[in-house]
Amino acid sequence: MDRDVSGGSNTWHAMEAASLSETGIKNTYKIIKKKVPTFYFIGVTTGQSSIMKVFPRWMEALGEPTTIIEGIDHKLHDVHEKYRQTVAQIKYDPLSIGALITSHKIDVLEAAEDMFDVLDISSRLTDEISCISKHDGQLVGHALDPLTGGMSLDAILGREYFARTGGYVLCFGAGGAGKAVALHLIQKDRPGDQPKRMIVVNRSQPRLTKLRRMVDDLGTDINFEYIRNENPTRNDEIMINLPDGSIVINATGLGKDRPGSPITDKGLFPIHGIAWEMNYRGALDFWHQAKAQEYSQNVTVEDGWLYFLHGWSEHISEVLHTDMDNATFIELSEIAEELRPPLQYKPRRYPHP
Ligand SMILES: NC(=O)c1ccc[n+]([C@@H]2O[C@H](COP(=O)([O-])OP(=O)(O)OC[C@H]3O[C@@H](n4cnc5c(N)ncnc54)[C@H](OP(=O)(O)O)[C@@H]3O)[C@@H](O)[C@H]2O)c1
Repeated sequence: MDRDVSGGSNTWHAMEAASLSETGIKNTYKIIKKKVPTFYFIGVTTGQSSIMKVFPRWMEALGEPTTIIEGIDHKLHDVHEKYRQTVAQIKYDPLSIGALITSHKIDVLEAAEDMFDVLDISSRLTDEISCISKHDGQLVGHALDPLTGGMSLDAILGREYFARTGGYVLCFGAGGAGKAVALHLIQKDRPGDQPKRMIVVNRSQPRLTKLRRMVDDLGTDINFEYIRNENPTRNDEIMINLPDGSIVINATGLGKDRPGSPITDKGLFPIHGIAWEMNYRGALDFWHQAKAQEYSQNVTVEDGWLYFLHGWSEHISEVLHTDMDNATFIELSEIAEELRPPLQYKPRRYPHP
């Protein structure tokens, strides 16, 4: 049936075709009608995360006690249809309110980009999404890691860190988290908040190439160096050549997602530098290696707990449409602290220069 609706019959045909294809997509998936507001955690071993205990307490504090969290575990690099099923559940069930995605940020976007109505600028720049939310009936994808990883990094470094120290950044891992750090530093307004040099080391080439493309597209005064390597001894050599005050980041997942560390026990951290292990649970070999040099090299050793807090609180704020002001963040941090898994340094032999 032809009908002239504002823009004429072509517009009507386009609208009808879009709505039919939307119905087609919807009918392809099995949608479970949730009875209470449900926030999904899309990951690999979601049941083991501290958020499962923290979330109900946070919901009480935020006045949303009926909202629950549900984990959806996907295999790493799962088949596209399974990711689309997960996104469809959120898109088409009214009480499925959104999600935080870990480990599958690139794959979900690759598999289901067409199911989103809006993607934010960071997801366009990084080719990934970490947050699914709904605004005025539209399905929205955000990449919040540059914001939340950036907030954590800022707290670790303080103002004008690089002007004060002249340190570089060495980041092991060019995945979502490594890329987020790079983007955050590139977007800094004050030159004193940017290192002269950022070295990124990754096991294989594709993510280095993607990172390089992002850096080249944006343009920056930071001198980036990209190294394909997974040999820890070579990483020790890269680390020993850093100037004093440099920050070394473990964004590989080694020590949590897989055993090991990107460096050996002999690797020397930069004097007066910072070691940032991005995780807060697991064997955390890199964190222990840095702890062993806390006094001999005067290294400040950080873990991923603050990143966890900023990450989850900002994603919840986006999905629930609540304001995450400083007072609320502090209240949520105090609640989470009571449930934090213990992290205790077990001494190991440390290297001598
Ligand atoms: N505390 C928090 O809240 C928080 C937040 C964000 C991330 N994290 C943690 O940070 C880690 C990284 O996260 P992500 O999202 O960036 O993960 P990701 O996308 O899987 O990236 C990990 C990267 O590390 C590289 N890699 C692995 N082994 C390596 C080695 N031996 N040497 C050099 N590079 C190596 C991988 O290379 P390939 O390209 O060859 O696979 C991959 O590019 C994860 O363990 C995650 O749990 C924690």
